[in-house]
Amino acid sequence: MASITSIMRWAAAAVMVCLSCGSLHAEPARDAIMKTLADEAKAKDPGVSTFSAERGKAFWLATHSGGKPDTPSCTSCHGKDPGAPGETRAGKRIEPMAVSKNPTRFTKPDEVAKWFGRNCSSVLGRECTALEKGDVLQFLSSQ
Ligand code: HEC
Repeated sequence: MASITSIMRWAAAAVMVCLSCGSLHAEPARDAIMKTLADEAKAKDPGVSTFSAERGKAFWLATHSGGKPDTPSCTSCHGKDPGAPGETRAGKRIEPMAVSKNPTRFTKPDEVAKWFGRNCSSVLGRECTALEKGDVLQFLSSQ
């Protein structure tokens, strides 16, 4: 018969393993992208200390102006819930943006740069700043 202590020991081990499940720092390729953005953001404004998931969330959900009228928000295509799939204007499925649901997200620098370029231009009519990009990735990595 399994004793209470052995069950508790098993539960403690399971908790230990899962401490790394949702870690923001589990993926070196994503960390490198964040580091590059952080260096860029600091070069522009030495007052920038860290990226903020809160700011990233607000930016992600906001209705912006300056871009194309049918895509005023990141959520116009990606949807309001980062854990759920989105859809392009043409109805093509976009896999979830939340890293917990889609662990390969934001691990290829070229892809990240290409899509920030296109999507910021569609939504804002300009490039996103390094701070905006870092905040968004911080938010989506925490989801
Ligand atoms: C017109 C539709 C559309 C809008 C609006 C849009 N996106 Fe995207 N986004 C896409 C598509 C399509 C992809 C590529 C498919 C994929 O990665 O699943 C993509 C991919 C990305 C990627 C790359 C993901 C990766 O895994 O490297 C980032 C970053 C991104 N979007 C950020 C944003 C941000 C920030 C906004 C708001 C400023 C935004 N997107 C608005 C359609 C859109």
